[in-house]
Amino acid sequence: MGLKKEKNELNFIHILFLLASFVCIILCQDEDTGVYIVTLKQAPAAHFYFTQLTKKHPSKNTSLSTFHNPRNVSRSDPHYGSYVARVHDSLLKKVLKGQKYLKLYSYHYLINGFAVLVTPGQASRLSGRKEVANVVLDYSVRTTTTHTPQFLGLPQGAWPLEGGFDSAGEGIVIGFIDTGIDPTHPSFSDNLDKNAYPVPQHFSGICEVTRDFPSGSCNRKLVGARHFAASAITRGIFNASQDYASPFDGDGHGTHTASIASGNHGIPVCVAGQLFGNASGMAPRSHIAVYKALYKSFGGFAADVVAAIDQAAQDGVDIISLSITPNRRPPGVATFFNPIDMALLTAVKAGIFVVQAAGNTGPGPGSVSSFSPWIFTVGAASHDRVYNNSICLGNNLNISGVGLAPGSNDTAYTLVSATHALSNDTAAKDDMYLGECQDASLLNQDLIAGNLLICSYSVRFVLGVSTIKQALETAKNLSAAGVVFYMDPFVIGFQLNPTPMDIPGIIIPSANDSKVFLQYYNSSLLRDPITNNIVKFGAVASITGGVKPSYTASAPKVMYYSARGPDPEDNSLNAADILKPNVVAPGNSIWAAWSSLGTQSIEFQGEEFAMMSGTSMAAPHIAGLAALIKKKFPGFSPAAIASALSTTASLRDKNGGPIMAQRAYSNPDVNQSPATPFDMGSGFVNATAALDPGLIFDTSYDDYFSFLCGINGSAPVVLNYTSQSCGVSTLDGPDLNLPSITLGKLNQTRSVNRTVLNIGPNETFAVGWSAPYGVSVKVSPTRFFITTGDRQVLTVHLNATLNNTAATYGRIGLFGDQGHIVNIPISVVLKRTYNASY
Ligand SMILES: *[C@@H]1O[C@H](CO)[C@@H](O)[C@H](O)[C@H]1NC(C)=O
Ligand SMILES: *[C@@H]1O[C@H](CO)[C@@H](O)[C@H](O)[C@H]1NC(C)=O
Ligand SMILES: *[C@@H]1O[C@H](CO)[C@@H](O)[C@H](O)[C@H]1NC(C)=O
Ligand SMILES: *[C@@H]1O[C@H](CO)[C@@H](O)[C@H](O)[C@H]1NC(C)=O
Ligand SMILES: *[C@@H]1O[C@H](CO)[C@@H](O)[C@H](O)[C@H]1NC(C)=O
Ligand SMILES: *[C@@H]1O[C@H](CO)[C@@H](O)[C@H](O)[C@H]1NC(C)=O
Ligand SMILES: *[C@@H]1O[C@H](CO)[C@@H](O)[C@H](O)[C@H]1NC(C)=O
Ligand SMILES: *[C@@H]1O[C@H](CO)[C@@H](O)[C@H](O)[C@H]1NC(C)=O
Ligand SMILES: *[C@@H]1O[C@H](CO)[C@@H](O)[C@H](O)[C@H]1NC(C)=O
Ligand SMILES: *[C@@H]1O[C@H](CO)[C@@H](O)[C@H](O)[C@H]1NC(C)=O
Ligand SMILES: *[C@@H]1O[C@H](CO)[C@@H](O)[C@H](O)[C@H]1NC(C)=O
Ligand SMILES: *[C@@H]1O[C@H](CO)[C@@H](O)[C@H](O)[C@H]1NC(C)=O
Repeated sequence: MGLKKEKNELNFIHILFLLASFVCIILCQDEDTGVYIVTLKQAPAAHFYFTQLTKKHPSKNTSLSTFHNPRNVSRSDPHYGSYVARVHDSLLKKVLKGQKYLKLYSYHYLINGFAVLVTPGQASRLSGRKEVANVVLDYSVRTTTTHTPQFLGLPQGAWPLEGGFDSAGEGIVIGFIDTGIDPTHPSFSDNLDKNAYPVPQHFSGICEVTRDFPSGSCNRKLVGARHFAASAITRGIFNASQDYASPFDGDGHGTHTASIASGNHGIPVCVAGQLFGNASGMAPRSHIAVYKALYKSFGGFAADVVAAIDQAAQDGVDIISLSITPNRRPPGVATFFNPIDMALLTAVKAGIFVVQAAGNTGPGPGSVSSFSPWIFTVGAASHDRVYNNSICLGNNLNISGVGLAPGSNDTAYTLVSATHALSNDTAAKDDMYLGECQDASLLNQDLIAGNLLICSYSVRFVLGVSTIKQALETAKNLSAAGVVFYMDPFVIGFQLNPTPMDIPGIIIPSANDSKVFLQYYNSSLLRDPITNNIVKFGAVASITGGVKPSYTASAPKVMYYSARGPDPEDNSLNAADILKPNVVAPGNSIWAAWSSLGTQSIEFQGEEFAMMSGTSMAAPHIAGLAALIKKKFPGFSPAAIASALSTTASLRDKNGGPIMAQRAYSNPDVNQSPATPFDMGSGFVNATAALDPGLIFDTSYDDYFSFLCGINGSAPVVLNYTSQSCGVSTLDGPDLNLPSITLGKLNQTRSVNRTVLNIGPNETFAVGWSAPYGVSVKVSPTRFFITTGDRQVLTVHLNATLNNTAATYGRIGLFGDQGHIVNIPISVVLKRTYNASY
């Protein structure tokens, strides 16, 4: 199974590691040294290759062949990379003659530059050189899963897709910039059937071979795997025992996200001895290339992420999936100008579709951490699969709870609180810890055996000091029939993820319900009137459900943590004329593969699958769907894929009502209202409809370039990053040909044009719209016939009728007589009207 492309990089990595430690001993004594990302004015390789390509297919051409297919281009001369690296070395040598410094990476494909450990003085000497375009201090990034237990309490789950996709995505390679992968997981095996399943020819990546990522780890499914850690190692925070100096996933996040997009079909999800059905990736026959740049113990750094992206593009991936966002908004004239987004711009130029998680910093406005119009930004929504359970008390009260645990088969068991079942030699009876069931030796088995043990879920569980796993061990040691966790009053407001349990169990997430439960328990105790000792435990209860899914109609719903628009254009929070997020996708309570040595979640440690929540889980759903679109329409540009996913997104939930958005961290299901485009972008992704979009809004690299040039004061930064000078013609944000209209500021009136391209049958479209509050809208034409392959310009006039600083929203719909519906959200952040006399 081993690929011929595998190459032993063990020595290289070790040398780098040792070298870095050594250099650090010398350099890091100077407190001021830092990693800087230095960009040179000379264009990177990809600009050269794809400029030639674009010229061969001028974008004014009205046929479908406008979509260039980078696969047919020889991507990179293997010698060019080492040539560029030598140029970088000699520049450093010249500028920092005789001084100490450490070059970590040379980038040559998407950006021409390098990452280097230097002092601020050395950095400024570098930035003074005429060859140097840009010097940026490296910054940290993080994964976008929230794995703390404060997540939404409704126990929900979703398998990405079941059935029907047995060849889905074959030939498409998705590159994951994440925490690596567990190559032994059945979701990534390639011997499920005997059918030919070749590694796509356009992919040229390799697999590192190390002790924890041995030869044979890669196969026809997992076609590439590397890791990038130089910036982290240089900082001295890389922990080899947790982080693995290899593509191996010591965290779990990367294994999870890769399997959401590309995991094999029909892999049984068995967790805590329970079967939760079969899992499947969205594009189960697509191929996986892993570029590990995020780590369990510290997250990641831009210098490593850029190296990973640069490599992925060079290797020929079709799609890049990033479930990571920067920790802080990038400084400068606009958020778009940061090394990661600029590298991704070149990737898009090379035909690679780029998906990024929106971030988990919602629900406040402007909280989104994915900025640029060439990146497809995904928010998180709930799905309709719910694992609910409940506890039925002896007084016939029914309390609903959380827990992926079996029920007690309608049998009622006696309830015994841990605090009332201490063993004789247990002192300090008032210690809160005793109620948490973390130590069986403190408890009296005689009282607990055969009964339901009551434990308190305290702040220590939230902090990970006490665990459900340990409480279950305690219960099993004492032969309890099951466990009931009630919420300690200090934990009010926290929301829980469903937690797997291998004996009957339930967590009562609500503080009020917990109070009701304890009242029933305490009032049922029989006490000796003289000693006040308990003589009988009178309370009984049975636990129902917990492992069988049921389906709710109030889904999808935008999760409170999903980051929101408007897209911050800069640090003064001006809104960009760009819609973010682009869509929402399932991100809450998602079952997917877990690394056998993944330590990110205590509750799922050692399990093969885990249920996780976050925009991290939403982004790979879109990466997988994009693979299906790319497979059906190989010539689609990244913007065309984005358009197909956007214009077809759904606006209604299963009830047929508008999709709701949670708007508060506490009681999110009470604090909700209909989702706006700044909550959900174009809507909730509809996979079926996205594969048959009818009309496409295309946008080219040149358009993005003109857009960047249209930003006030951007010309020098654009030149620095792209080596191209801004011309006289620039493009305003609202004029980018996106499948949405977003106006950060509407100064009385504005006209924008949109051009659609028909990739469907001949069709007649009727145009309808609803105007944002305080704005009048007119679209022309209101009806048009369009033949296959033809284009149509739509002109949209917006005119403010009221001053208003609150964002308002509308929508344009194109309704085709062949069944295509094309959906264009309108958002206006700020409106101004002239004086009537003007
Ligand atoms: C662009 O490069 C020039 C020349 O190196 C430098 O002086 C300037 O600060 C850079 N501008 C930005 C915005 O990075
Ligand atoms: C590295 O991780 C291991 C295992 O988690 C831990 O025991 C050790 O203390 C860590 N080392 C450092 C330097 O943090
Ligand atoms: C799950 O997959 C297994 C094979 O891996 C198959 O036997 C079983 O029928 C599948 N179950 C469902 C519900 O699809
Ligand atoms: C409930 O019934 C199932 C199947 O009959 C059995 O496997 C399980 O052990 C029972 N659980 C309890 C707690 O009695
Ligand atoms: C605990 O003490 C009581 C009374 O002193 C005694 O009856 C009981 O057997 C003891 N239980 C254990 C487990 O030692
Ligand atoms: C779970 O929730 C669904 C939808 O809210 C409901 O129809 C079902 O009866 C519930 N099941 C249990 C076991 O509580
Ligand atoms: C998704 O699209 C398909 C095909 O256009 C349509 O039949 C279906 O109703 C859509 N689903 C939702 C939830 O809008
Ligand atoms: C709005 O447009 C008017 C007319 O073009 C112009 O005078 C005014 O300065 C503009 N205001 C802003 C805030 O751009
Ligand atoms: C929009 O398109 C129309 C017709 O193609 C053209 O006349 C007009 O100048 C365009 N307007 C803008 C704002 O680009
Ligand atoms: C589409 O329309 C064009 C122009 O009216 C016509 O020539 C062509 O035959 C039509 N195609 C189909 C499949 O009807
Ligand atoms: C905008 O609306 C105002 C009335 O609110 C009207 O006087 C004006 O003519 C309109 N302008 C355009 C360009 O439609
Ligand atoms: C809207 O606001 C602008 C700028 O503050 C002001 O000049 C104009 O008179 C206001 N128009 C209305 C109708 O209030």
